[in-house]
Amino acid sequence: MMDARCLVVVGSQWGDEGKGKIVDVLAAEANIIARYQGGANAGHTVHVGGEEFILHQIPSGILHPGTRCLLGNGVVLDVEQLLGEIDALRARGFDVEERLGISGRSHLLLEYHKRLDAASEAKRGADRIGTTGKGIGPAYEDKIARVGVRAADLLYPNRAHALIEHAVTRANERLRGASAEPLDPVRVADEVLRMRDRIVPLLTDTGREITAALRDDGRVLLEGAQGALLDVDHGTYPYVTSSTTTAAGAATGVGIGPTAIDAVIGVVKAYTTRVGSGPLPTEIEPPLGDHLRELGGEYGATTGRPRRCGWFDAVVVRYAAQVNGLTGLAITKLDVLDSFDEVKVCVGYETDHAAWDHFPYDFTLLENARPVYETLPGWKADISGARSIRDLVSARSHRNERNRDARERLEALQVRAR
Ligand code: IMO
Ligand code: MG
Repeated sequence: MMDARCLVVVGSQWGDEGKGKIVDVLAAEANIIARYQGGANAGHTVHVGGEEFILHQIPSGILHPGTRCLLGNGVVLDVEQLLGEIDALRARGFDVEERLGISGRSHLLLEYHKRLDAASEAKRGADRIGTTGKGIGPAYEDKIARVGVRAADLLYPNRAHALIEHAVTRANERLRGASAEPLDPVRVADEVLRMRDRIVPLLTDTGREITAALRDDGRVLLEGAQGALLDVDHGTYPYVTSSTTTAAGAATGVGIGPTAIDAVIGVVKAYTTRVGSGPLPTEIEPPLGDHLRELGGEYGATTGRPRRCGWFDAVVVRYAAQVNGLTGLAITKLDVLDSFDEVKVCVGYETDHAAWDHFPYDFTLLENARPVYETLPGWKADISGARSIRDLVSARSHRNERNRDARERLEALQVRAR
């Protein structure tokens, strides 16, 4: 299954595509599995042997004994969350610390980042991003502003203590400005330093480890979190996360060059979901949208929030294929659509005057646009047991009159839109 030596798995919609499951399948053949961006905002649910595991900070690959799991420099590290996950996995019989490495170049995500996240969302009011509240934006802000605390700083306790105290004092100014409760800098620093002894032994250089593994003909799996449309550059800004979720971020996020990557698999759901605010062109109104949410169990693994649900958006996935350089696609949750009489696929967007077959950078266009759908007949059969393409039922031809209409309308409007 894993032909590539260095393979990236990326979300190719708005997150929650089922990356954890695909990584779990591929990890069986991998030597190293590394996260390269994001933090505990990710919620990767994996079912193994009738048991459910939800991982936020640790790579899903940890469930495979014998694999080496890494958190790259591009990750923001919530130390308390990490230790909690390690302990929970250990309690369920997994050896973790022996197999886990943390980039010394990764940045620490501290208590004040979460508080700033909440304060910033409160300030935005109705225009809030709908973050996971895990402090992701503020942690990356500190990193880019060059005032962050790196995991390697923990090597020197006094220095780490001073850096954290300083960072909390600075954050307190912002918290007071936002009428939020400030934190005690000494207490925060003390608490982080108490966890130091468990973190320092895990520190490593992820780029060196991965390069060495590839040289020895090892297999490396780079596990993306979130999705292309949540990428800070390529997503629906500002309703995005604060990291490079796309495949190029995998290289900088662990410390290898882009030429080391052999293949990129995009994971997509057979429909579309989004949790949080921002454009979702194919969103389905209730009651059908609610029905799809129930059928797919679409509630956030990190926050429990109901996910917004919509039809499959081929424009989005084509765009994700471009920005990620996808070499393969993994489609999940097709069986959730088993009972539908009709299944729609969005092939473009239109207003009364114009149409697009690509994802626009001008999101105001999306506000007034309607999706152009091709409507496919439902297969109305239980395909949950299908294990190969041949096991799937063959649907009737979809090249019916209605779809020809949709395509012709799209083409005519595109000519006018030029
Ligand atoms: P996985 O890895 C789905 C969304 C949040 C919000 C936006 C910014 O499970 O696919 P953040 O807390 O990152 O600052 O929030 O991004 N978001 C996700 N949505 N799956 C995720 O991760 C997400 N991580 C963040 O809902 O809209
Ligand atoms: Mg998730």
